[in-house]
Amino acid sequence: MKILVTGGAGYIGSHTVIELQAAGHEVVVVDNLVNSNLTALKRVEQISGKAVPFLEADLRDRAAMERVCGSYCFDCCVHFAGFKSVGESVSQPWKYYDNNITGTLVLLDVLGKTGCKNLIFSSSAAVYGEPEIIPVTEECPRGQCANPYAQSKFMLEQIMMDLQKADPEWNMVLLRYFNPIGAHKSGMIGEDPRGVPNNLMPYITQVAVGKLEKLSIFGDDYDTLDGTGVRDYIHVVDLAKGHVKVLDSIEGQCGLEIFNLGTGVGYSVLDVVKSFEKVNDVKIAYEIKERRAGDIAVCYSDPGKAQRVLGWKAEYGIEDMCRDSWNWQKNHPNGFKD
Ligand code: NAD
Ligand code: UFG
Repeated sequence: MKILVTGGAGYIGSHTVIELQAAGHEVVVVDNLVNSNLTALKRVEQISGKAVPFLEADLRDRAAMERVCGSYCFDCCVHFAGFKSVGESVSQPWKYYDNNITGTLVLLDVLGKTGCKNLIFSSSAAVYGEPEIIPVTEECPRGQCANPYAQSKFMLEQIMMDLQKADPEWNMVLLRYFNPIGAHKSGMIGEDPRGVPNNLMPYITQVAVGKLEKLSIFGDDYDTLDGTGVRDYIHVVDLAKGHVKVLDSIEGQCGLEIFNLGTGVGYSVLDVVKSFEKVNDVKIAYEIKERRAGDIAVCYSDPGKAQRVLGWKAEYGIEDMCRDSWNWQKNHPNGFKD
């Protein structure tokens, strides 16, 4: 299939481009590089041995989107582009709603008008808020979103549901990612956050490499086995492969489907720290701090639907994730600048 990948230079997008190309798909990336580096796509080309046609453009630039969609006649769009920092979304909500909502509205309009009505969307477990059921199934009601980032995903899901109801020619697949970590096994691409990382794994790897002094663990008084927060960490390559599985089933299937992409296993912050130390033989200095505002105690998926319907199941475990995250960071202490 001919696939438009928005945000394909980013963390999950770049890993997914590799898997899409490996599965024989023709990929075109549109990204404005606001949170990524062109080097990532150059490395993807080295890994896959195939060119990655790339257009540097903002999704909100309708003329650019019309040009690219008009000239390629895509079969499907895998839509990653958007802002994702929870804290920043609280301090700059307009920026988040404008980029995530406006960008997607333009994209959907242009795709529809150019005859591409197959879409795979990067949603998030954040739409469940504080989940009512653990493990979280797709039937679990969407919750009270804790921040404008999560709210933007919630609103976009709703927009897609409404659009698909009004025009049943659309195939929409909403993928609710749990916590992606890890990196490609080559160590050539990985997560490269700007500034001080907000998320656990990039913080750990930057402590390990000596860029940060110690990890702050946000709370050890949750109702969990060791008191620290529990999440469903999923290897980014497993996540990327999930998109390929969706593509295998998307053609000729009008409708809207929702899948959790997670492993179904919850690990605490201390579990992750200990795993990282053991697998990589490094020490991670940490201290226990106050809970982080907006955090929940426990969130992990029931990934059964993706296995039943798509035949997809995460293959990598926490040790693989810790090893591959470190392999990327130790070889590239300054991310794509190295
Ligand atoms: P990322 O920031 O690494 O990648 C997003 C990419 O989109 C970047 O390359 C950025 O430059 C690009 N982009 C942003 N706004 C754009 C615009 N208006 N026009 C063109 N390009 C634009 O993030 P990621 O971790 O790869 O996440 C990809 C998607 O998955 C995002 O939608 C994110 O919300 C979602 N998601 C991520 C996580 C996570 O923990 N990483 C969890 C759940 C969902
Ligand atoms: N944590 C720390 N110290 C840190 C960073 C995180 O103790 O420096 C803890 C958090 O309190 C939490 C766990 O590590 O218990 C995971 O935190 P992350 O920030 O890595 O991930 P979140 O679960 O908070 O959120 C992530 C993404 C969201 C996405 C969500 C989906 O940031 O965008 O996963 O589950 F929506």
